[in-house]
Amino acid sequence: MAFLGLLFSMIPTLLLLASSSKFQAEARQYDVGGRDGWVAKPSEDYNHWAQRNRFQVNDTLHFKYNKGIDSVVVVKKEDFDSCNINNPIQKMDDGDSIFPLSHSGLFYFVSGNLDNCKIGQKLIVLVMAVRQPPPVTAPPPTSALPPQTVPATGLTSPAPPPSEKSGSGRVGVGLGVLVGFVLVGFIGLA
Ligand SMILES: *[C@@H]1O[C@H](CO)[C@@H](O)[C@H](O)[C@H]1NC(C)=O
Repeated sequence: MAFLGLLFSMIPTLLLLASSSKFQAEARQYDVGGRDGWVAKPSEDYNHWAQRNRFQVNDTLHFKYNKGIDSVVVVKKEDFDSCNINNPIQKMDDGDSIFPLSHSGLFYFVSGNLDNCKIGQKLIVLVMAVRQPPPVTAPPPTSALPPQTVPATGLTSPAPPPSEKSGSGRVGVGLGVLVGFVLVGFIGLA
């Protein structure tokens, strides 16, 4: 019974762990440049920003910029260095663009505004080859287990005494009945 109680008490925790691990496996959206967005002079260099993040397949990049004045051009590495926007892989210019990181590897983005590109409005994003939910979700179960064992031992230690009491109680009743029968037997004999 104590074991069943322990099992039931763990159900909310197990559900929580399952949902949190599911959450961590979901794709994330990154706002390029944070609050600055996609601008000529961001407060933090775009590549510095990119290095602080761990991009994974299916994550998305959100570019926010002034439509008509700026744009985002996805280019090849050789065109990235020279700010060549005449051979784009993809061009986004609606002012509010979502770019899905559909595969692992390197993605090169430059401003479609040549002057901006030349002063450094460019971004390289490295997308991790594999999603790593197991290593990421592995620590929570181990860190969540110790607090779980605390109520578990708390449940099991008070649990045995009542079961012992009820057991000895049953033995007592049994003895009483036996004594009663013996007495009745004696009375019947007498
Ligand atoms: C990315 O999303 C697609 C479509 O939802 C899915 O089939 C694929 O397994 C996902 N890839 C990764 C690495 O999560």
